[in-house]
Amino acid sequence: MSEHPPSDEIYLDNHATTAVDPRVIDAMLPLMRSEYANAGSITHEPGRRIAAKIQECKEQMLGLLGASGGQLVLTSGATESINLALFGVALHPRQKRRRILVGKLEHRAVLDCAKKLARQGFLVQSLEAITHDNSVQVDQADQAVSERPFRIGRIDIDTLAEALDDEVCLVSILLGNNEIGTLQDMRPVADLCRARGAILHLDATQAVGKVPLGELSLQADLVSFSAHKFYGPKGVGGLLMTDPDLMLTPQIVGGGQQNNLRSGTLNTSGIVGMARALAIASESLESEMPRIYALRDRLWQKLRTSIPGLRLNGPAWNKDFPTDPKDLYGLPGNLNVQFPGVDGQSLMLKVPGLAVSSGSACTAAEPHPSHVLTGIGLSQDQARCSLRFGIGRFNTSEQIDQAAKKLAWAYSQLIQFVA
Ligand SMILES: Cc1ncc(COP(=O)(O)O)c(C=O)c1O
Repeated sequence: MSEHPPSDEIYLDNHATTAVDPRVIDAMLPLMRSEYANAGSITHEPGRRIAAKIQECKEQMLGLLGASGGQLVLTSGATESINLALFGVALHPRQKRRRILVGKLEHRAVLDCAKKLARQGFLVQSLEAITHDNSVQVDQADQAVSERPFRIGRIDIDTLAEALDDEVCLVSILLGNNEIGTLQDMRPVADLCRARGAILHLDATQAVGKVPLGELSLQADLVSFSAHKFYGPKGVGGLLMTDPDLMLTPQIVGGGQQNNLRSGTLNTSGIVGMARALAIASESLESEMPRIYALRDRLWQKLRTSIPGLRLNGPAWNKDFPTDPKDLYGLPGNLNVQFPGVDGQSLMLKVPGLAVSSGSACTAAEPHPSHVLTGIGLSQDQARCSLRFGIGRFNTSEQIDQAAKKLAWAYSQLIQFVA
């Protein structure tokens, strides 16, 4: 494997994973070269040095996540964090409540934990999302567009209010859908959960480092994330507990590390890399968000002028980047579109140098159309004709233009064979 990818390759799959930022690699290398002691080896100086460094990283990350008074459990990534959140809350010996609510458009990591809990006797209810309204032509230049297309994929608050009762122990909601980019409006969700005494878990895997979290994370009890989604290394992530005393049943037992919440030797280089990646993301957010937002708009505009009938899946956006990021409806770098009459997989095969996706990375190998796309009201055929683009920090406008050109050419070739 060569150090550099082929020069004509264009990577637009930044929801699946991101390149590690070179500044992050620089921060990690000393941890492998010289400061390699075990953070648990506090009987000697090298061990104490690394233990102090990890503590410093944790405090830095808690601050950047807007939750300085909280606790951060370091994990191998969002999947593990989600397992700890869902099983940790539901299976705690003092847990008396037996109902769990999860969004219908959640990532498989959440859905499969919920399914397993259902097999163990919990009553799991799936919360409907606001669906596609096919009667509205989505056009962000059209200021008269209805409110609905901006909210596609959000949990319907009335449905949540109806479903919540004093039996619900846990509500798990996605902030930043990994396929259609929808950002949930967290405050009403959090207010409802608090009023009913239910623990709120936020899967913020796609949102951390991409949109300002600040007090957003404070609205949830538990927040899951993975470093490799924000230009950090793979295999490291975190579960933020905004209340450090929340009771969770550990899912990995052993050496008793991390207050017994997650045993196992800490991935020190990964943790240092994750902290650096989060710091870089926080510093660059203000300039990066509008730049990526504009690239996404550029791709959409180029595609729709060359492909008749192209449709947007997911929330619409306003042409200009909102002055208040709270008014963002979707992840700035997400674009999910339907190519009328042409299967997404065939399109991808026709442009082999373009790295995009027809679903989430974890389910990309599955033959079934995406549950997210069908969950917002698309037919199975419409879902199969869709592709997801994830635009990130290292993409350029030249790459966007090239990608649009290649796709328009591939589409024109394939559509000829459609009756
Ligand atoms: C929304 C969401 N949640 C959870 C995960 C799982 O993350 P990881 O594979 O890093 O454990 C992903 C990864 O694609 C994701 O997009």
